[in-house]
Amino acid sequence: MEFSTIKGFKDILPEEVGPWQRLEQTARHVFHCFGYREIKTPLLERTELFSRSIGEETDIVSKEMYTFHDSKGRGMTLRPEATASLTRAYIQNRLYHQSPVQKLFTIGPMFRHEQPQKGRFRQFHQIDAEIFGDPGPMSDAELILMAMEILRLLDLEGLTLAVNSLGCPECRPGFRSELSKFLAQKTGALCDNCTRRARTNPLRIFDCKVPACGQAVAGAPSVLDFCCEACRAHFKGLQGYLEEAQIPFRVDHRLVRGLDYYTRTAFEIQTDLLGAQNAVVGGGRYDQLTQQLGGPDLPAIGFAMGMERVVALMERRGEAMPERPDLFICALGTEAGKAAFVWMTDLRRSGFWVEMDYSGKGLKAQMKRAHRLGARRALIVGEDELAAGKAVLRDMDNKRQEEVALEGLTSHLQQALRQND
Ligand code: HAM
Repeated sequence: MEFSTIKGFKDILPEEVGPWQRLEQTARHVFHCFGYREIKTPLLERTELFSRSIGEETDIVSKEMYTFHDSKGRGMTLRPEATASLTRAYIQNRLYHQSPVQKLFTIGPMFRHEQPQKGRFRQFHQIDAEIFGDPGPMSDAELILMAMEILRLLDLEGLTLAVNSLGCPECRPGFRSELSKFLAQKTGALCDNCTRRARTNPLRIFDCKVPACGQAVAGAPSVLDFCCEACRAHFKGLQGYLEEAQIPFRVDHRLVRGLDYYTRTAFEIQTDLLGAQNAVVGGGRYDQLTQQLGGPDLPAIGFAMGMERVVALMERRGEAMPERPDLFICALGTEAGKAAFVWMTDLRRSGFWVEMDYSGKGLKAQMKRAHRLGARRALIVGEDELAAGKAVLRDMDNKRQEEVALEGLTSHLQQALRQND
């Protein structure tokens, strides 16, 4: 029997991993500049953590979680997102005692049992950042700027920022009841799911992809018309900081996001280059969650970037350039092989990617392997060269060759290889 990956799960092969590494390195660099510290939480958590934070009525909780019961009958779930886990960790480890304001990030796989399609997988990866403990719109702006900065450093184009305010427990109920009244007139025009949502969680209707539901809610009230003074001031503050930072954005009063914990700011960075799965980054404020999960009453905001989607954008631009060894040493004969092994080890310790052949094959076969690996240079040394105290260094791109003395070889090679940078 031959095994293969499960539907919606995939291998990331060595030749595909370059853009993944570049994305992660770029994010880590940006997090360093913005003062975010890394946190790693388990992939498996109690089911209730997610159902209580993301919301029972969301697609994620109602139909997409990988859940099982352990031997004691407790519900366990593979994390579908990171915010709930980071909030649990913030509370459980009393990170707010060190300082209420904690800026954290995590990078890793998430699991949702969705219908796989372009840009949508059942195991996918997120770069997730959260600020706990700060209520002001400057934090909202900082997070958005940080996500934009990662994407800017990767030279990605065609991205737009959409922002909205979802109000707070003071003002959202007013909007909710107005929306429910509006939806009550539309019964019959909505899909089965939305007919149910109209009663249980009307805001979710804006997320529905069924065209008839989109038409039915075309004239729905705007959440922004119901925001209280404090929510309006917060949203205005955020827009002011974005303008100051020259980050273009549009206000989209239909942007509700697929998770229930949001209050006030919600945002997405979207692309029109990836088909239906257009959100590359999604985030927002969730000022009630820490308290809801049993912690102190402290606000929070965060975002998650979908790595598969960013990598797809990088690949579209031809980012998949494989990495190349700096040097391949073609050593012919036992003595040359021994010497080559020492040079290779020295150069590797100095930070160069060096390869050689261990199988004792002839020059032709070794050069073939150097080509296949894409080595930038080859060093050719046989018993004659050893005796004469010199070797041949070949530039594999322009085919130019030079003789190099074996005395002081590794420092000469270090100089030559540095020119690759
Ligand atoms: P989300 O909108 O569910 O938000 O996911 C964030 C991003 O993860 C999406 O914009 C998308 O790029 C990527 N993503 C989500 N599902 C999939 C999938 N099935 N396949 C591939 N990529 C996917 C959250 O997860 C929130 N926790 C974000 C957040 C952090 N809010 C506050 N803090």
